[in-house]
Amino acid sequence: MNRFFITTPIYYVNAKPHLGHAYTTIVADALARFHALCGEDVFFLTGTDEHGDKIAEAAAKAGQTPKEYADGISSLFSELWPALGLAPTRFIRTTDADHIAAVKRALQLVYDKGDIYFGEYGGHYCKGCERFLTEKELVDGLCPDHKVKPDYIAEKNYFFRMSKYQGQLLEHIKANPGFIRPRQYRSEVVSLLESGALDDLCISRPKSRLTWGVELPFDPNFVTYVWFDALINYLTAVGWPDAPDFPAWWDAAEHLVAKDILKPHAVFWPTMLLALGLPLYRRLNVHGYWLVRDTKMSKSLGNVVEPKELAARAGLSGLRYFFLREMVFGADANFTDEAFVGRFNADLANDLGNLANRTLAMAAKYFGSVVPADVAEDCADEELKQLAEAAVANFMTLFAAAQFSRALDALWELVRGLNKYVDAMAPWTLYKEGRTDRLATVMAGALGGLRKVAACLLPVMPEAAATLLVQLGQDAAGINLVDEAKGFAALPAGTALAATSNLFPRLDVPARDEVAPAPKTKAPKDSAKAKDKAPAVKPGPALEVDYEDFAKLDLRLGTVVSVAPVAGADRLYTVAVDIGEDAPRQVVAGLAEHFTPEELTGRQVTLVANLKPRKLRGVLSHGMILAVRHASGMALVTASASVAPGDRIS
Ligand code: MSP
Repeated sequence: MNRFFITTPIYYVNAKPHLGHAYTTIVADALARFHALCGEDVFFLTGTDEHGDKIAEAAAKAGQTPKEYADGISSLFSELWPALGLAPTRFIRTTDADHIAAVKRALQLVYDKGDIYFGEYGGHYCKGCERFLTEKELVDGLCPDHKVKPDYIAEKNYFFRMSKYQGQLLEHIKANPGFIRPRQYRSEVVSLLESGALDDLCISRPKSRLTWGVELPFDPNFVTYVWFDALINYLTAVGWPDAPDFPAWWDAAEHLVAKDILKPHAVFWPTMLLALGLPLYRRLNVHGYWLVRDTKMSKSLGNVVEPKELAARAGLSGLRYFFLREMVFGADANFTDEAFVGRFNADLANDLGNLANRTLAMAAKYFGSVVPADVAEDCADEELKQLAEAAVANFMTLFAAAQFSRALDALWELVRGLNKYVDAMAPWTLYKEGRTDRLATVMAGALGGLRKVAACLLPVMPEAAATLLVQLGQDAAGINLVDEAKGFAALPAGTALAATSNLFPRLDVPARDEVAPAPKTKAPKDSAKAKDKAPAVKPGPALEVDYEDFAKLDLRLGTVVSVAPVAGADRLYTVAVDIGEDAPRQVVAGLAEHFTPEELTGRQVTLVANLKPRKLRGVLSHGMILAVRHASGMALVTASASVAPGDRIS
């Protein structure tokens, strides 16, 4: 049986888990499930990195011993994963006894080989990065990531002859194009190695400065540098060196990290493996950074996004779908509430949710929720078959290539295609006209398509996909994705179906456009409890308003006279709208992702003209343009005939 061994970084225990950690771990889980669903034997590893300066310092600040401190934060991680529906095969801690033994063993081996020597070094040490930075890496004398001046440290230490393996590593990367992906990160590493600038790696810290670490087996006055310690976890977890199936697991090893730790994984780690005489891991998958409204997440900025809160709003499945669909793997992505809700509502509540709801509701109405007895599995229309087969094949290829966003887009070709198929075949008309055979073919075909979608979604949204499969009378446990890609069939005759689906009730949109602040409401006294209980998902109709309230809105048609981007906000335009006043109204609108300035200029739009003016991203906005989010984007609300600028809607 093929194996798949996927790892996340082991996270530092100096900060609580946030959206970024959850993203990597959820992607690893999705890959693990995907490979398991392809019939492979899977090992999914995550854990915590607990030694080193950073942790010792954080513990001292908290008035705890490093171990007490590490226990506390490590458990926040180990408890979060099951709460997010993740079940790693092992949660490793660098304070685990088997790991400490493995680190010592590795150090001794490399030392005995002559690849570790004692020497003196002075350099710019950044505590945040837990490593010495080269002159070249500094920007205006500061660490580019942590924006602090590194300490200049000169001391005697042990060094790993990393430079010795530079050529061998470069050759390996060149001979194995898929070793680091996506390509931009591979190129980055190749240029670094080609520049020949690789130094040896300082792998110890004198105990006079730091005691919180694994003692060097060959010198009790030193502890191990945290990266040399941490990277070994990938070997410890699969039983290096003695476990009989270690070689088989190691042969299947794939790492998943963000770009912040590319160098340790693409350079330190493979050279360490070469020194240990071990094969290199199979692949390094590198993703970009989640930003929050274009800014790095940080405690001091107060913009840290809590994964549990997101899961409470959109469900675990909604959160996973958002992560995988929204971030182009390898590039940075921006988290905004609007994108989160918009993506959920457009893709899940509208496209997929509606498809499932209406298909099951029609099957209930026309056939009493059972696929009719005389319908044949190979009856599906040819076009539908081709669409489904292509979508599933593309999904599989792209997902295996870690291109999750494109994979889901490919699958949505089928979701949208099925909605169109249902619209075009109009089962309600077939029913009215009594064309029962044709109606059965159409319904069984559409249901067969939905089954394919649900099967492919199992690694992405395990909960929702399994529920949908049950609603379709399918056994999720029996699904193998390789088989799914082999062909398309209508749902077999006699399959019992659920009468309704209702998997993805719409989420509330927090604000109309990109940067509108959430309305300020007074927190109830017991706000923490209320937050726990209040369902963020509010299905059903919106609040009713009196006519008098509605009549307060001044809705006018206007003509767009000019459009300009808003600096630093990808989704926003400043739009000037002529509504028959002396000068055009200036409105900031979240339309930039959907329309070019040329497409908007000259268009008739509906404006809420008496909205109080306010500043968005420093630009004054006086009014709001109305638009509709729909399956494939956004549409402007306009009049069916050309009207004069300023005409009022009543
Ligand atoms: N302890 C080291 C890793 C050692 S692995 C042998 C470490 N820990 S960390 O806590 O800083 O975690 C960094 C990782 O967390 C990133 O590589 C990424 O997987 C995840 N992320 C943290 N913040 C993130 C974002 N804002 N966006 C995406 N992922 C991020 O480095």
